Amino acid sequence: MDGRAETIRADKVTKRFGGLTAVDQVSYVLHENEVAGIIGSNGAGKTTFFNLLTGYYLPDEGTISYCGEDVTRMTPQQRVARGMMRTFQLTSTFDNLSVVDNLGLAYFRAHKKSGLMQLLFNTRKSQRNEPKIVQTMDTFDLQDVRDREVKNLSLGEKRRLEIAMAILVDPKVLLLDEPLAGLAESEIQSILGVLRKHVGHQTILIVEHKLSHVQDFLQRLTVMHEGRIIADGTAEEALRHPEVRRSYWQIDVTAESAGVATP
Ligand SMILES: Nc1ncnc2c1ncn2[C@@H]1O[C@H](COP(=O)(O)OP(=O)(O)OP(=O)(O)O)[C@@H](O)[C@H]1O
Ligand SMILES: [Mg+2]
Repeated sequence: MDGRAETIRADKVTKRFGGLTAVDQVSYVLHENEVAGIIGSNGAGKTTFFNLLTGYYLPDEGTISYCGEDVTRMTPQQRVARGMMRTFQLTSTFDNLSVVDNLGLAYFRAHKKSGLMQLLFNTRKSQRNEPKIVQTMDTFDLQDVRDREVKNLSLGEKRRLEIAMAILVDPKVLLLDEPLAGLAESEIQSILGVLRKHVGHQTILIVEHKLSHVQDFLQRLTVMHEGRIIADGTAEEALRHPEVRRSYWQIDVTAESAGVATP
């Protein structure tokens, strides 16, 4: 038992789709300022678990609490209002607006209560002077494209914008489902570079299909397989776990321990 505050706690959560148990009695704790990852093969249940944490699905069994409060039955919006932020999907960015206008909207929507038209007007006037927005554009390397419309951004730039918009509202926890999917190597490095700047003062949970890129970056790694958590620890510990070697890497552990070479 360590002394760090719990940000998210899932207690024996289960989610079924018809006869299929996508998430099976999963218990998981994410601590404050922890940078943690969940990996697993196709269909392991990662996205379903992510959707349970963020409120897009209700569990069939089990409970989810957030900063000590039971949020099991709360809507995604209620969780967002409490500081649980997942990356904006592309549909939540305004494609015909510039990068800086999108950041302005995210910022003022979170910090001021007003209608959309008022918001846009305020945004245009205030964004240039808003230090938080300028600083975020610096951090996320978006200065060069600040006036570009979102529809003309590369996928990597859009991803950076989405994460920037999420971080701009000072979330207590940032949840990212496959933030690196579909990106070129240089874009991956640039996103990881940005996320690294938040390590130690931001709670982050990343769900990834592939491990290679996030391995060095994560403080903790959890491996899911067929709806269950099969290993949890440092990346090194989790990857050494026999069941992970068998299920995730599909290494023949028995043959290996008998000294037989495996592919
Ligand atoms: N809405 C749904 N309706 C029916 N079955 C679903 C639904 N969502 C997921 N599943 C099933 O639940 C299981 C877990 O899926 P999930 O998307 O959570 O896996 P994943 O670990 O995110 O996989 P991937 O690495 O491919 O993203 C799979 O067998 C999937 O087919
Ligand atoms: Mg998934």
